[in-house]
Amino acid sequence: MSERFDVCVLGSLNVDFVASVARRLRRGETVTSLGLDIVPGGKGANQALAAARLGARTALIGRVGGDPYGTDLRNRLADEGVDVTYVRIDPEAPTGLAIIIVEPSGQNSIILAPGANARVGLADVEAAEPFIRTTKALVVQMEMPASVASRALHLARSIGVRTIFNQAPALPIDRSALECVDLLIVNETEAEVLTGVDVDGLAGARRAAAILRSTGPGAAIVTMGGSGAVVDGPDGQDFVPAFVVDVVDTTAAGDAFVAATTLAWLAGQNLAVAAGYGSQVAALTVGRRGAQPSLPTAEEVAAWRPPGGERSQFRPSF
Ligand code: RIB
Repeated sequence: MSERFDVCVLGSLNVDFVASVARRLRRGETVTSLGLDIVPGGKGANQALAAARLGARTALIGRVGGDPYGTDLRNRLADEGVDVTYVRIDPEAPTGLAIIIVEPSGQNSIILAPGANARVGLADVEAAEPFIRTTKALVVQMEMPASVASRALHLARSIGVRTIFNQAPALPIDRSALECVDLLIVNETEAEVLTGVDVDGLAGARRAAAILRSTGPGAAIVTMGGSGAVVDGPDGQDFVPAFVVDVVDTTAAGDAFVAATTLAWLAGQNLAVAAGYGSQVAALTVGRRGAQPSLPTAEEVAAWRPPGGERSQFRPSF
């Protein structure tokens, strides 16, 4: 069968309020921000847009509120080629919102007010089934009710669509849903929460990846930011180094990694090579501020030369 989409993403759309601060805040402290940006974000929307900018045929399933933010988020995605037929405008809820604090190191902390994302329901998945049936892969995160993520993973598995689950935030989901996952991707903090393993280096990441895979997924990746990633699959474990780059803002780097790794994997690369491509796209993302403004296009990825390093072996042709 010829599919209509490469990737269908079920996930969140947020408007991000990004405040840069001169240093980490202390308890009870009030600081003046160095600047405030209001930019489109949300893990689901970021992953969908990252895939679209890399050249994939992409659809997003989710909800925004019936306010100007929601309409704007939806329109921007549509303008960049993401199919938003199943991004429903929910008049009963505000659009999801994220307050992001970015430290000088580029590391961030995020507070979510989920708004309409929390109202994504089983009916949204059922309605979008015609799209899910015509995609190569379904990508799901956890900025929505776990029951909905679970239903979508079960549905995709039952119809032979590949499943990528980014368990972020690291909230619990039923074991049967994890057994429907082909590839699980989490960062080191999420891996710690989910496994109880202290992921403070390669040994911890290897242990956590093995535990995560033993809970059901066909393969698991634990990312460690600038320290690389561990891939745990049926053929054993691989370490994928990160590119050494100047970090401006890490927001959406994980989303870029998920999208790019998924696309390379769908294109037939083994997981380690796919994750290498994901690292390359993430490295470009951390060099720019904001979530969606920082996601690179396929042309930018192709033109990029990492300082003192080799690019990924993978050359996409989606
Ligand atoms: O992964 C980054 C995203 O997390 C931000 O865009 C924010 O909206 C939160 O969902």
